[in-house]
Amino acid sequence: METKEQIERLRSELHRHNYNYYVLNAPEISDMEFDRMMRDLQELENAHPEWDDPDSPTKRVGSDLNNEFVQVSHRYPMLSLSNTYNKQEVADFYERVQSGLEGEPFEICCEMKYDGLSISLTYEHGRLVRAVTRGDGTQGDDVTENVKTIRCIPLRLHGTGYPEEFEIRGEILMPWTSFEALNQAREEREEPLFANPRNAASGTLKSKNSSVVAQRRLDAYLYSLLGEQISADGHFENLEQARTWGFKISDGMKKVSTLQGIYDFIDYWDVERRNLPVATDGVVLKVNSQRQQRALGYTAKSPRWAIAYKFQAERARTRLNTVTFQVGRTGAVTPVANMDPVQLAGTVVRRATLHNADVMKQLDLHIGDMVYVEKGGEIIPKIVGVDTDARGKETGEKAEFIVHCPECGAELVRYEGEAAWYCPNDTACPPQIKGRIEHFISRKAMNIDSLGPETVDEYYRRGLIRDVADLYDIQVEQINGEDGTREKSARKIVRSIADSVKVPFERVVFALGIRFVGEIAAKTLARHFRTMEALASASLDELLQINGIGTVIAESVIRYFADEKNRDLVHRLQEKGVSMKLSEEELRAQSDKLAGRSIVVSGVFSHHSRDEYKTMIEQHGGKNVGSISAKTSFVLAGTNMGPAKLEKAGKLGIPILSEDEFLKMIE
Ligand code: IVH
Repeated sequence: METKEQIERLRSELHRHNYNYYVLNAPEISDMEFDRMMRDLQELENAHPEWDDPDSPTKRVGSDLNNEFVQVSHRYPMLSLSNTYNKQEVADFYERVQSGLEGEPFEICCEMKYDGLSISLTYEHGRLVRAVTRGDGTQGDDVTENVKTIRCIPLRLHGTGYPEEFEIRGEILMPWTSFEALNQAREEREEPLFANPRNAASGTLKSKNSSVVAQRRLDAYLYSLLGEQISADGHFENLEQARTWGFKISDGMKKVSTLQGIYDFIDYWDVERRNLPVATDGVVLKVNSQRQQRALGYTAKSPRWAIAYKFQAERARTRLNTVTFQVGRTGAVTPVANMDPVQLAGTVVRRATLHNADVMKQLDLHIGDMVYVEKGGEIIPKIVGVDTDARGKETGEKAEFIVHCPECGAELVRYEGEAAWYCPNDTACPPQIKGRIEHFISRKAMNIDSLGPETVDEYYRRGLIRDVADLYDIQVEQINGEDGTREKSARKIVRSIADSVKVPFERVVFALGIRFVGEIAAKTLARHFRTMEALASASLDELLQINGIGTVIAESVIRYFADEKNRDLVHRLQEKGVSMKLSEEELRAQSDKLAGRSIVVSGVFSHHSRDEYKTMIEQHGGKNVGSISAKTSFVLAGTNMGPAKLEKAGKLGIPILSEDEFLKMIE
């Protein structure tokens, strides 16, 4: 087969498999086969840039180029809906429609109200040409490059019969599973968590880097078709048509012709929505005929032919018994409400977070209060209010935030700009010590998997360990149980502790638990400084020069090593044989070949990721810089490098190296 034909065949097959997987949820091939086809296509495309196609399935991976969002005017304004929370108002809406249409029969299209962010997609000749956010309703941000990475949004339409030009609008969402995975990863890196999938989706879509969007696995449902050439009068019928062109349209959409039909739809989905993969916060009711929609018209803000019925966030009322305070590994103190058990959204809730002192103060909680608990988009339940009418003689004292650490008695401190209070006694406060030891032994750190939180707690209580270095002094006889009954497991534990000295240096840097130094930062620091000694004596300036290290991390590293107790701990770990520098093998991967060179990395690569190239540059002594200037030594360019950058490099006479040339250079 001709190469060009092969490329086209792969593209069209991959478009189809994307659709099967992301729209129909019915893949025909395995993920492995899909990945292999994708790699084959990428290779062919790399070899034949002359046959580039902006809609190729390979473009779904996004690019690392910074894209700026341009403001675009909406051809049709993006309005909002009027909201209601009760069925009486739904009945009022139904009556208004009835009298507005002067008794003419009508149908209502009932849909889910998706809780994400709205998007308007423009298609011309079957191709996605533009994606714009709602913005202020009149103007929004052009986020086309980001939206192209969302797998369920067709880049090219299927079938026939679509208008030459039209807009389709819908909601971009982050599925619960992606949201939870994202937050878990952020927690591990000690990055702030997203409060709910809507914020996560919105933060993601506004990312300047479309490869980030591609990784976050967003989803999208479309719910309105607009344009001069839309044929059918029915909104429902139009969406069913759009489904055949490859769009993801909700299966739950339903036409009804009575008020009772609407109520049944609401009641069904109020329960069933818990089984959906994405967040919903109500239903939307729309008059189905577009002719009738026009007859009913609009108010200044919203259509008279539609209304949103919002589900009550699930809420329960229960008694507050006590407020306790938890101390984390970093010393941050979190207030927790302990309540009478109550059923809420499928689980029994006994505890709710009160977040911090400010939130607690705002709620004005008293012990014995009847409180309202909600599980909104958030996973952890929270107290949203107090039933003050239910206060009586039995109501107890106001719940106050504590002044001293509940674990060690130290006076709490509050750092500027932070909401949390901290226990500063990091060397003697038990949960902080145990938390640090648990972090040290965790899988991604020293990976001492024969130990767990309970054993750490036991050894701590028995006085065997006071810090992570003490682990290496534990003897079999100390932990083999009375009469030596636990000999076997004791030997295993001691052996796995001894083995841990072999974990690579970067994991040791992570294991120390320096605040804000997550796995990735630890790797970056280890590769840059190569030895613990160099890292410990780095200056703030030196740290800030490193790609990927910002002020928060840099200052935290400085603070850590400025503390003599920490330096002493590192020294003791070194004496136990824990790796304090990159291994010979890792060092061999490094050189000074790029010393003194300032390099711009731009575009999409096929052998390594952009971040891997940046790491290589640092490993070989080079410096990563963001933008091209006269001082740039060369540009490492993948495919898709922006035309503005190309032109600038050309003007300044800066050499452009391909991936292969670069790899040869550092070989
Ligand atoms: S129709 C003129 N349908 O709710 C009406 N909106 O307050 C245009 N939404 O900004 C919207 N699900 O982001 C419509 N099935 C649905 C919807 C929906 C969610 C969002 C949309 C809009 C907001 C309206």
